[in-house]
Amino acid sequence: MGRRYPLLSYLILLVAFFFPNRLLFADNLSCLICHESLKGTYVTAKGVESRLHVNGEKFAASVHGDLECTNCHLGYEDNPHSSVEENVDPELLGIAKAIAKKSPVDPVAQAACAQCHPDVYEDVKQSVHGANIFDKKEVDGALCLDCHGSPHEIMHVAGAGHDASASPVAYGRVVETCGQCHEKKSVSLKYGFSTKIIERYNESFHGKKYHLGGSNLPVCTTCHGAHNIRAQNDPEAMVYGVNKIELCGQCHAGANAKFVAAITHKPIGKDNPIPYYAEKGLILLTFLVISGCAIHIVLDIFALVRQTAQVRKRRRNEVARNESSVAG
Ligand code: HEC
Ligand code: HEC
Ligand code: HEC
Ligand code: HEC
Ligand code: HEC
Ligand code: HEC
Ligand code: HEC
Repeated sequence: MGRRYPLLSYLILLVAFFFPNRLLFADNLSCLICHESLKGTYVTAKGVESRLHVNGEKFAASVHGDLECTNCHLGYEDNPHSSVEENVDPELLGIAKAIAKKSPVDPVAQAACAQCHPDVYEDVKQSVHGANIFDKKEVDGALCLDCHGSPHEIMHVAGAGHDASASPVAYGRVVETCGQCHEKKSVSLKYGFSTKIIERYNESFHGKKYHLGGSNLPVCTTCHGAHNIRAQNDPEAMVYGVNKIELCGQCHAGANAKFVAAITHKPIGKDNPIPYYAEKGLILLTFLVISGCAIHIVLDIFALVRQTAQVRKRRRNEVARNESSVAG
C-alpha cells in the first residue's frame, strides 16, 4: 500500500498526528481520507471493475449522511481491506451470496439495505425483478441501486413536480429510470416484452400530458407499483385482468372492462384492435377528406377554364360582330 500510494500514506500519518480523534473515532473520515482522493477505476480480486472515488460532500448531503460507511460495508474495518465477511450476520451473508453476481464489488453492502429497510427488501425479493435475480440467477432485473442511483447519493423519494435534480424515482424522473432497461431492445426481446414501451407511453394520452408538465397523470409506478412489481399474468399484478378496473377507476370514475382495455404497450396491430381500427378509420377518413378536396379543386379549375373559354368566345364573337358592322 505504502509503495503504491506514498502520498496518501503520508497524508494519513499527517492527519493521524494532528487530528488523532477524527481518525480514530470519525469512521467516515478514516475511509474518506483515501476514497475522496482516489480516482479512476481498478479491477478487484474477483475481476470486477470498481470506481474508488466517493464524494464525501454528496454523501453527507444524502439521506444516509448520518450513517457510517461501515453500516453498509460491514466488515471493512481493517486496512488494507481483507476480512470482508467476518462479523457479518449469517442471514445477511445469505442475501449477499444470492446477489453476488448482481452486486459484485461488495454484495454485503447492497444486502445491508435489508437491515434497515426489511419490508421493502422483502417486497423487491418477491417482485418480478427480485425473482429475476434471486430465483433465475440473472443480473437483468432491478435491485435497489438500479432505481435509487449511486449508493452514496441516495435521495428522498418525494417530489411531485418535474425537478431534474430530484431522486431518480421521483414522479418527474421515474419514467426515464424504468426506461434505462425497458427501452433496451435486448431486454425486451430476451423477456418477450413489447419493444417500444417507453415510446408508446410517451405517445399515449397520459404520456403526452405528463411530458407537458402534468402532475395527476399515471406514470410507470402508478400502474405497476414500485417494489412489488408483478408480471402481467400474475393475479397479484395491478394490471392483471379485473384488477385493472380498480386501477383505472382511481382516476376514471365508472371505468369498466371495455374502458380499461384502452391501455396496452403493444404495438398497434390486429391483436390490439381498438387502436388498430381507430387508426385504420383515421387513415380512411384522411383519404376521403383529401380526395374530396382534390376532386373539388379539379372541378373548380375545370369550371374556371370553361368560364374563361366562354368569355373569350363571347368577346371574339362581339369583336367579329363589330368588325362586320364597321365594314358594312
Ligand atoms: C489507506 C487508504 C484506504 C482507506 C483508509 C480505506 N480504503 Fe477502501 N480501498 C482502498 C484501496 C487502495 C482500494 C482498492 C482495493 C485494495 O487495494 O484493497 C479500496 C477498495 C475499497 C472498496 C471496493 C471493494 C474492494 O474490496 O475492492 C470498498 C467498498 C472500500 N474500499 C471501502 C472502504 C471503507 C468502508 C473504508 C473505511 C472503513 C475504507 N475503504 C478505507 C484504500 C483505502
Ligand atoms: C447505504 C449504504 C452505503 C453506505 C453508507 C456507504 N456505501 Fe459504499 N457502497 C454501497 C453499495 C451498495 C455499493 C455497491 C456495491 C456493489 O456494486 O457491489 C458501494 C460501493 C462502494 C465502493 C466501490 C465503488 C464502485 O462503484 O465500485 C466504494 C469505494 C465505497 N462504496 C466506499 C464507501 C465509503 C468510503 C463510504 C463512507 C463515506 C461508503 N461507501 C458508504 C453502499 C454504501
Ligand atoms: C424498480 C425500481 C425500484 C427498485 C428496484 C427499488 N426501489 Fe425503492 N422506490 C422506488 C420508487 C418508485 C419509490 C417511490 C415510492 C413509491 O412509488 O412507492 C421507492 C421508495 C423507496 C423508499 C421510501 C418509501 C418506502 O416505501 O419506504 C425506500 C426506503 C426504498 N425505496 C428503498 C429501497 C430498497 C432498500 C431497495 C432494494 C431492496 C429498493 N428501494 C428497490 C423504486 C424502486
Ligand atoms: C443502518 C441503517 C440503514 C441502511 C443500512 C440503509 N438505510 Fe436507507 N435509510 C436509513 C434511514 C434512517 C433513512 C431515513 C433518513 C431520513 O429520513 O432522513 C433512510 C432513507 C432511505 C431512503 C429514502 C426514503 C424516503 O422516505 O425518501 C432510501 C431510498 C433508502 N434509504 C434506500 C436505501 C438503500 C438502497 C440501502 C442499501 C444500499 C439503504 N437504504 C441502507 C437507514 C438505512
Ligand atoms: C395507465 C397504466 C399504465 C402505465 C402508466 C404504464 N403501464 Fe405498463 N402495463 C399496463 C397494463 C394494463 C399492462 C398489461 C398489458 C396489456 O394488457 O396489454 C402493462 C404491461 C407492461 C409490461 C409487460 C407487457 C408488455 O407490454 O411488454 C411492462 C414491461 C410494462 N407494462 C412496463 C411499463 C413501463 C416501463 C411503464 C412506464 C413507461 C409503464 N409500463 C407504464 C399499464 C400501464
Ligand atoms: C435494471 C433493469 C430494470 C429496471 C431499472 C426496471 N426493470 Fe422492469 N424488468 C426488468 C427485467 C429484466 C424484467 C424481466 C424479469 C423476468 O421476467 O425475469 C422486468 C420486468 C418488469 C415487469 C413485468 C413484465 C411482465 O409482465 O412480465 C414490469 C411490469 C416492469 N418490469 C416494470 C418496471 C418499472 C415500472 C420500472 C421502474 C420503476 C422498472 N421495471 C425498472 C428490468 C428492469
Ligand atoms: C393517476 C390517475 C390516472 C390513472 C390511474 C389512469 N388515468 Fe387515464 N387519464 C388520467 C388523466 C388525468 C387523463 C387526462 C384527462 C383529460 O385531460 O382529458 C387521462 C386520460 C385517459 C384517456 C383519454 C381519454 C379520456 O377519457 O380523457 C384514456 C383512454 C385513459 N386515460 C385510459 C386509462 C386506462 C385504461 C387506465 C387504467 C389502465 C387509466 N387511464 C389510468 C389519469 C389517470
